Amino acid sequence: MERKVVLITGGAMGQGKAHALKFAENGFDVVLADMQDPDGEVFRATVQEIEKLGAKALAVKCNVTSDDDMKAMFEKAWDTFGRIDVVVANAGVINFGYTWELTDAQVQKVIDIDLIGTWRTDKYAALYMRKQGFGRIINISSTSGMYGTPQLATYCMAKWGVRGLTKTLAQELKGTGIVVNTVCPTKVKTPMCETQSYVDFINDLTGKHFKDWQEMYDSVPFLDVEDISDMVFWLGTSRAAGQFSGRDLGLDLGTLQQ
Ligand SMILES: NC(=O)c1ccc[n+]([C@@H]2O[C@H](COP(=O)([O-])OP(=O)(O)OC[C@H]3O[C@@H](n4cnc5c(N)ncnc54)[C@H](O)[C@@H]3O)[C@@H](O)[C@H]2O)c1
Repeated sequence: MERKVVLITGGAMGQGKAHALKFAENGFDVVLADMQDPDGEVFRATVQEIEKLGAKALAVKCNVTSDDDMKAMFEKAWDTFGRIDVVVANAGVINFGYTWELTDAQVQKVIDIDLIGTWRTDKYAALYMRKQGFGRIINISSTSGMYGTPQLATYCMAKWGVRGLTKTLAQELKGTGIVVNTVCPTKVKTPMCETQSYVDFINDLTGKHFKDWQEMYDSVPFLDVEDISDMVFWLGTSRAAGQFSGRDLGLDLGTLQQ
């Protein structure tokens, strides 16, 4: 049987890496697009783990903020595999600051990567999937795309926007065999959260005094990357998940109001 192909932005580490391994374990070849260098230690280790599972891995240095990079990366993926079954628009960054403290540069950065980068990923995903007449697009937002969070205005603006993009694209793609949905996870144990600025943000939010992220992980509920991968894989492959489009699935650990 012909192998299927998943393309993941931000695939070098964190959730993107976990998604790549999940798909690779289950018979997919993988395209990993990340701004990190494929020859760097982190990205190389990810590719090796995927190849150990018997899957092909195409690792491309690619910044989601660059149209040239993204166009070339999708072309390379198409030329290499001739199909793109699933696209996971996962690349993202976070920064912190009360709304009145934020600079233009801070706002621009998160909007460029998390929102416009997701649109650019979806644009090329839709262009290629329309050629083949099928596909699944999965956009990664956040529970911060479902409610407001102090000090996360940049992130909330971008992640709410991702849901609007998903809903619009879902309507545009009606009847094409392509569906697009959003996953909204709450906190996940990844390098994104393993910084002092993230710990300071959690301390501010909770009134706690964790000295580092290890201590924070011991006390604050976090999802594991595999939790998100299970949902992303189900969205990308199950028959049931082909029957709806434009939806937001919250993996919220009970943080959302009913
Ligand atoms: N970790 C969390 O708590 C959490 C919660 C909800 C949603 N998310 C979202 O999940 C997604 C994955 O985050 P993560 O937790 O794995 O973060 P991470 O920082 O661990 O990994 C992000 C990956 O994206 C890559 N990347 C960053 N900017 C890029 C760019 N401009 N172009 C290409 N690649 C880029 C990084 O190099 C890295 O490999 C993000 O969209 C994030 O906003 C994270």
